[in-house]
Amino acid sequence: MVKPRSGLGLRAGYYSPQLDVEVRLNSNESSESLPEGFYQRLNQRVREVQINRYPDRSYHQVREALAERDGVSPQEVFAGNGSNEVLQTICLGFAGSGRTALVIEPTYAMHSQIARNTGANVEIRFRRNTHELTVGEYGNMLDEVQPDLTFLCSPNNPTGESLSSELLQVAASSGDRLVVFDEAYVEFSSKPWTRAELPNVVQTRTFSKAFAMAGARFGYCIAVPETIAVLDEVVLPYHLDSLKQALVLTSLDFIEQAESAVAEVIARRDRLSRSMTELGLDVYPSDANFLLVDFGEIDGNRIWEELVSASVLVRNCTSWPGLGNCLRITAGTEVEHERLLEALSRALVVVGS
Ligand SMILES: Cc1ncc(COP(=O)(O)O)c(C=O)c1O
Repeated sequence: MVKPRSGLGLRAGYYSPQLDVEVRLNSNESSESLPEGFYQRLNQRVREVQINRYPDRSYHQVREALAERDGVSPQEVFAGNGSNEVLQTICLGFAGSGRTALVIEPTYAMHSQIARNTGANVEIRFRRNTHELTVGEYGNMLDEVQPDLTFLCSPNNPTGESLSSELLQVAASSGDRLVVFDEAYVEFSSKPWTRAELPNVVQTRTFSKAFAMAGARFGYCIAVPETIAVLDEVVLPYHLDSLKQALVLTSLDFIEQAESAVAEVIARRDRLSRSMTELGLDVYPSDANFLLVDFGEIDGNRIWEELVSASVLVRNCTSWPGLGNCLRITAGTEVEHERLLEALSRALVVVGS
């Protein structure tokens, strides 16, 4: 086999098993189907697509619709096939060889993987308290690492909490260092951070969670026009195909329905949290569409296996830095939660005994 170039992020690769189970609560997707009328509207838009022609390279309509939603100008928006592609494009433009990226664990595994794949030196630091990053320790990390680019995730995956606004302000004012705020779960947050009109900030978002479109792959980011121009420069031409553009515009026609679905997810997440606490489990507060559960002295791997044998798939976080016996559980439907709670009660008896 021909050897790949060195320095790739493959060793620590992001891997979430896609097992054939009845209840999938492992990828923080939406368990909801799309709103009524969605597919008819999509059908109309798709019929207007000229598939023999290349797509609108600058996806003007999509840009304008996203800009209007977020109260920014179209020149402050860049979009891609999932926020992973947006993160990769940011790294192509601002990380890469000779640059250093700071990743503060535990957090979304793709940040370090993507940065490494672009040739950047990735410096990993750990929070003292898994569920909090203080302004003081963040400042020390910046002084020590002197990163060209820092990833901050709020609400953080997999721990679920939002970063404090003081910390976000400090990060946003760190001069010429780029700060990527990964806001994949911002719609579920009780403390959404408002637009940062600062030259060193990029806010990334996704349609995979609140917009129930994980299968379609769409994400975007907001930043100052100079940063967006760099992303436009390094991304492949015509990367956002015409069908995707039609789909995203359709999705934006149904924003109110998406917002009410988010409110329901939050309510169900909180009910699930209470039910799991009643089972005696340590459930961390969450500002996202998932819950992190710490099984303490109980073997999290074995609980995960028992759940899989009951056809319930959750995310096994036991090998993630600092997460001991933790499992991450996506908020699903009431029926899925009933299945989960039943399987969990049984697993606790089997593994705990
Ligand atoms: C924090 C975070 N950022 C980005 C993503 C990737 O999202 P997308 O589906 O838009 O690529 C995820 C997916 O789980 C995530 O948890």
